[in-house]
Amino acid sequence: MRQHVNPLSNNFDEVERIPSLNEMFDNFKLDLHLDIGCAAGDYLFDLATSNTNWNYLGIEIRAKLIEKAKLKVREREIKNLYFVFGNANNILNDSHCEFIIKNVKSISLNFPDPWFKKRHYKRRVIQTEFISKLSNSMQEGSLIFIKTDVRDLFEYMNFTISNNLTFKEIDKKNFNYSECFNPNKIKTNREKYVLKNRFEIFESIYRKF
Ligand SMILES: C[S@@+](CC[C@H](N)C(=O)[O-])C[C@H]1O[C@@H](n2cnc3c(N)ncnc32)[C@H](O)[C@@H]1O
Repeated sequence: MRQHVNPLSNNFDEVERIPSLNEMFDNFKLDLHLDIGCAAGDYLFDLATSNTNWNYLGIEIRAKLIEKAKLKVREREIKNLYFVFGNANNILNDSHCEFIIKNVKSISLNFPDPWFKKRHYKRRVIQTEFISKLSNSMQEGSLIFIKTDVRDLFEYMNFTISNNLTFKEIDKKNFNYSECFNPNKIKTNREKYVLKNRFEIFESIYRKF
């Protein structure tokens, strides 16, 4: 399986039809969390099965991973979890998908691909225009969670989000995790690997004002 795909390739220009929240979930009125770059979705399976009072939506650019995740959702009959294939930037910029951003209570970007070379920075998920799009459509009070083990990437993401004046960083020490999408602080696969190897993790939470 290819580890990296170029999100700017034409292959991702066309956005698949995204069903309404009513079609995605058994109870579309539950709080909605979106995980961008969810890989095979293991984290979202753990979240969805332990927090049945939330709906979870994952977007991932590697098609095979999403095919398998969708199959697993059907086999296990999980009603609060849905996966979408494609480039998250294209999907969330598409006017037909605006309802997703309008309805999310929170978004997570866990260990996004760093794209280390400067000429590849434009492949990173977080871009100024993308953050503007989120800021124009997200509800007041909704949250963005970012996490990475790459210091430079963290600084870049933190700078880009903080530059948008509608997002304010929250002091994590005072944050009440029990009310968020991940009350038990479940870890992603990359996070487990990083912790096992004792690498540093950089993370922030931002509230939309
Ligand atoms: C380093 S992995 C981290 C996976 C998972 N979030 C974790 O913490 O274990 C980054 C994931 O983001 C996906 N990805 C990268 N760019 C993307 C984009 N523009 N849209 C959707 N997914 C993307 C990659 O294919 C990969 O699965």
